[in-house]
Amino acid sequence: MPALVVVGAQWGDEGKGKIVHCLAEEADCVVRYQGGNNAGHTVVSGGKTFALHLIPSGILVRRAHNVIGNGLVLSPRSFMEEVSALNKRGIRSKGRLHVSLMAHVILPYHIMLDILREDGGRGLGTTRRGIGPCYEDKVARIGVRVCDYLEPDTFKALVDQNLRIRAAELSRMKPLSAIREEVFADYARLRGFLAPFCRDTSVFLAEHLAKGRRLLMESAQGAMLDLDFGTYPFVTSSNPIAGGAAVGAGIAPSAIRGVLGVTKAYTTRVGLGPFPTEMEGRMASRLREIGHEYGTTTGRPRRIGWLDLVQLRAAARTSGITSLAITKLDTLSGTDPIKVCVAYRYKGKRVEEFPASRRAQMECEPIYENIPGFAGDIQSVRRFADLPVRARRYVLEVEKRLKLPVAIVSVGKSREETIYRDRRSVWG
Ligand code: GDP
Ligand code: IMO
Ligand code: MG
Repeated sequence: MPALVVVGAQWGDEGKGKIVHCLAEEADCVVRYQGGNNAGHTVVSGGKTFALHLIPSGILVRRAHNVIGNGLVLSPRSFMEEVSALNKRGIRSKGRLHVSLMAHVILPYHIMLDILREDGGRGLGTTRRGIGPCYEDKVARIGVRVCDYLEPDTFKALVDQNLRIRAAELSRMKPLSAIREEVFADYARLRGFLAPFCRDTSVFLAEHLAKGRRLLMESAQGAMLDLDFGTYPFVTSSNPIAGGAAVGAGIAPSAIRGVLGVTKAYTTRVGLGPFPTEMEGRMASRLREIGHEYGTTTGRPRRIGWLDLVQLRAAARTSGITSLAITKLDTLSGTDPIKVCVAYRYKGKRVEEFPASRRAQMECEPIYENIPGFAGDIQSVRRFADLPVRARRYVLEVEKRLKLPVAIVSVGKSREETIYRDRRSVWG
């Protein structure tokens, strides 16, 4: 039975959390398959605002099970804090949140290494949560998995081994003995908190699929932050694209029936790196303020740009996007004209495909077409036909140029502020 992947089609923060929250009512299980608490998914549920980092947005929907898959990196402390904070607000996780025994564990020294590198002249503008260094250990085959963390002797041996391996770099920050102490501070409590949530989630998901239940796969970050297909090296250390869902959750690729790409009606990015359609000045400030474009995780102001169809075509291809959700259409109200990038120009030539070269990504110039803007408050609109004609035209233009159906149009933060054009087809 079907799995639907909800993938960020830009550089993250497209509104995946809101869209997953909308669709989670129709799902039996919501699954995060990559990343860690670098993600920040803001979801407005029952009038309350939640900022989720590690836990799937389905936790806010009563009936859904939620899975933190093997493809994630998990900080036991952040996990405890996030679960406890939700608990205090009446959201219970026990019995409906499941953590893979094969996910990798972020330890204090990963965070130290992330900060050391960010401050040491090799900065990428990371979230400083230790994500990259933890994935490095995974690939180097020295990582600590959740199942290792739960066995005190195995854990101790791995930490001692890894502190030796990373000694040269780490000792620039603190004496190794102090780092070791930090790693073991609170260990028993953190392990005790985590243990009841852990299981083989690939087996759990296979059982769900065999029973014909629906899985909603929630990506963190976005296609352009993908380790392989993003703006390397200014990317995250995992694969948000839809293929990552099979690897990062341990489900069969053939279980994936639909891929919903989430894109803003314009573009944003936090952190460093190429951003061909970035705009400066008053227009950028205006959209940043209207759209509250500040990072959920780090509070950094987001960089703002026009919609980039070259970049979106690449996202559609690498994830096999079958339909789109366009968010924050309301934020564009009052902008006239609206620019849309249809191709790039690089070294005098027109470029239709997103380039691999970092130099070309930095130096290519967007070729824009103007689309007439619309005005008025559209947050209360619930039917596509009730949108101003020019707002509809903008959506239809994107649909036509990307050759993808726009199934959902989001016009505000809350679940209610959503226009469904074809809700059923989204699941594939
Ligand atoms: P995510 O990381 O992809 O889940 O996105 P974020 O939560 O980091 O950023 C999206 C922001 O836009 C959040 O503050 C959402 O509450 C908000 N948002 C989502 N959809 C809409 C929309 O259609 N209109 C407006 N005005 N805000 C939205
Ligand atoms: P959500 O799930 C936007 C960016 C960071 C940095 C790069 C690498 O909310 O869309 P990392 O800490 O992952 O090593 O940082 O990736 N980044 C995000 N940008 N939204 C996110 O998550 C992000 N997670 C990481 O800013 O440029
Ligand atoms: Mg976010």
